[in-house]
Amino acid sequence: MDASGEACRATWGSRLGFVLAAAGSAVGLGAVWKFPYVVGQHGGGAFLVIYLGCVLTLGVALLLAEMTVGRLTGQSITTALRTLGGRAWAWVGRIATFNAFAILSFYVVVGGWTVTYLMRAFTGSVLANDTQRLVAEFSAFTANPVASLASMGVFLGLTALIVAAGVQKGIERAGKWLMPALFLLMLLVIARALTLPGAMAGVAWFLTPDFSIISGDTLLEALGLAFFSLSLGAGMIVVYGSYLPRDARLAGSAVWVATLATLACCLAGLMILPAVFAFGVPPDAGPGLTFITMPAIFAQMPFGHAIAIAFFLLLLFAALTSAVSLFEPVAAFLIDEYQWRRSTAVLAVFVATFLFGAPAALSFGIWSDVRLFDRTIFDLMDYVTVNLLMPAGGLCIAIFVGTSIWPKARTVLEGSRAQWFVPVWRVLLLVLTPIAIFGVWYQTF
Ligand code: PHE
Repeated sequence: MDASGEACRATWGSRLGFVLAAAGSAVGLGAVWKFPYVVGQHGGGAFLVIYLGCVLTLGVALLLAEMTVGRLTGQSITTALRTLGGRAWAWVGRIATFNAFAILSFYVVVGGWTVTYLMRAFTGSVLANDTQRLVAEFSAFTANPVASLASMGVFLGLTALIVAAGVQKGIERAGKWLMPALFLLMLLVIARALTLPGAMAGVAWFLTPDFSIISGDTLLEALGLAFFSLSLGAGMIVVYGSYLPRDARLAGSAVWVATLATLACCLAGLMILPAVFAFGVPPDAGPGLTFITMPAIFAQMPFGHAIAIAFFLLLLFAALTSAVSLFEPVAAFLIDEYQWRRSTAVLAVFVATFLFGAPAALSFGIWSDVRLFDRTIFDLMDYVTVNLLMPAGGLCIAIFVGTSIWPKARTVLEGSRAQWFVPVWRVLLLVLTPIAIFGVWYQTF
């Protein structure tokens, strides 16, 4: 299957194309929306240190492991695990694929928020100094069932269109200029945010670790966020890796993807958290934090209106490239496993995601009282998929690559300068990853 399967499979135009596409998946709402508010809820600097520790160790090791599985087989995760490891392992792939679908279902809710905020940026109604008003507007919008379902539908529809257009055309082309543009714009906004009166308290809070406030829950959130921000444990890096050309240098690609993703998170933190302090918004305000704070910064910038439009446009694109990468493994699963036509698979995933995501959208409004384990539907979906299923998926892949297919896996680093990394990689996969994940779960439950 190996050679023939690969021969007919499209490949990325270049290594840069792959790195940017994988980074395009990684950099998205996770960095700009999730990272700042989760750091805000978990005490700043200490959380940042733990998050970075997770990314640099198990994050890089797992990125490489997922790329390897994709690269060795040229298949999406379920088919790939079956080819390499037999039928039992295919279950890991199925669960990871289901997880991608579940994440997509709540991701599109927030994607919908970016659509609406982009519209508001166009009309200029988003620019306001008054954070109380911004909070009220955010709550009113997310609580409105028609508005939130409609914007979610638009975002999901855009995602489906890109996936239907196919890998090369849809994803690769977009990644090359969007990400640099987003980074540049973030730098610009940071420059303004840092010069707001009172902003330095936020910088200090973000960068000074206070480990006394770390609890099991904080560790779990940092671990989950590391997985989420690198798009790990849900089979997506496997799918992207399956389109890699033979000569791609995997270790370097993994490090690049991790660096870009972490950089995006840190930039987003530097953009939002100082402003949060300057405007007196509570840092633990929750999922609305970015959407409440950004407009207030724009209102205080020269050319704020134009910058607001550019920012929400780029955020929308960043969110779309990530959503595409969640959509793609689910569609690829149906195509590879059941030989569905691409268009049929895309339509099916679209409908199913809408139905599964609707309760998450409604849990900000009419269903906000529906609580399970003390969480809203949205929070619960986020928690279970990101903090439990992603690490679980990553753990299985780590063990699979480190044991079952290790002799083959290590060959992907042959001939590269990263030889020294081979034994380190195995230790990270078989020792550090299980200890970290079980340790964190043990602390929390
Ligand atoms: N990493 C993406 C983000 O930060 C989310 C994502 C998770 C994408 C898992 C794909 C797979 O927005």
